[in-house]
Amino acid sequence: MTAPPPPLGLLAELTHRCPLRCPYCSNPVELSRASAELDAATWGRVFREAAALGVLQLHLSGGEPAARRDLPEIVAHAASAGLYSNLITSGVTLDAERLRALAAAGLDHVQLSVQDAEAGSADRIGGLRGGHARKLDFARAVEAAGLPLTLNAVVHRQNLDRLGGLIDLALELGAGRLEVAHVQYYGWALRNRDALLPSRAQLDAATRTVTEARERLRGRLVIDYVVPDYHAKRPKACMGGWGRSFIAVSPAGRALPCHAAESLPGFDFPDVREHSLAWIWTESEAFQRFRGTGWMPEPCRGCEHKERDWGGCRCQAFALTGDTAATDPACAHSPHHHLLDLAVQDAAVAGVEFTYREMGAATAG
Ligand code: FES
Repeated sequence: MTAPPPPLGLLAELTHRCPLRCPYCSNPVELSRASAELDAATWGRVFREAAALGVLQLHLSGGEPAARRDLPEIVAHAASAGLYSNLITSGVTLDAERLRALAAAGLDHVQLSVQDAEAGSADRIGGLRGGHARKLDFARAVEAAGLPLTLNAVVHRQNLDRLGGLIDLALELGAGRLEVAHVQYYGWALRNRDALLPSRAQLDAATRTVTEARERLRGRLVIDYVVPDYHAKRPKACMGGWGRSFIAVSPAGRALPCHAAESLPGFDFPDVREHSLAWIWTESEAFQRFRGTGWMPEPCRGCEHKERDWGGCRCQAFALTGDTAATDPACAHSPHHHLLDLAVQDAAVAGVEFTYREMGAATAG
């Protein structure tokens, strides 16, 4: 087979430790222990291999990457490898002094998560009292450090009605970009689906809000917005297609075609301590299994959209059908599409209690 084009992005999950307890946490249900985390020197070698492979952007993520005391050293490795580095953070444990150290080490960009526009609700969703106020302080420190800021808001039934407030908050904090990301329902978030799925009316109102704000704020704020799968007719091209543009590396060093892939059965994901990133990208079975279109079942195989959506999301297909190779049920042609409609109906009558993410023994080490 011909060699795949190089990946554009590397997601380095530095740790699964996190001070927040978000009910929609996208980390796998089984977390890596702190004692299993890659050290800074190994990350540096992985970054150099990524740059040689063609990667341009590095996303430093977690968990909360600031839980790593050696974060400045890791950022310096990224800078010396020539990668554009983006720190994806909750912002609740970073102060201005630590941020200045990261900027001095070569950090290029900060992406800050917020749970809501209103402090009481934001703290309830994140499971940390006072967390929202700390995020606002941190955002001001980002501006003072002269670093570009993106605000990331994961939206769902319990905050979507305040989307206008989130847009105002992004402006107030000097963000150049706002990502409005609907919850993806696999991993921990699937446990909270009934508490989080928005109604069709909420979604339609949110889409109108975004359309109006994009027009009004043209040139001031870029708003990224993706319609949630459960109200879609077409699946999203998850990760831009399996093994097509993206590599994630878990805290313990497993290379993954998507950050949630470790929960898929029947894989032996390669370890960056044992294999080069180039071998992983071009040769490993895990990255080739769902790459391209040859693996697709019907109705994907005969579909005119197959090279646009690449069969949708493998993690969602497995979560809803038990089959990693099934057509993503988000597609209206999937024989399982009705499962999404049923979930939306169930959520409309369900209670709103969260099952919070508890890190427990997984954070020890
Ligand atoms: Fe894993 Fe979509 S999240 S393929």
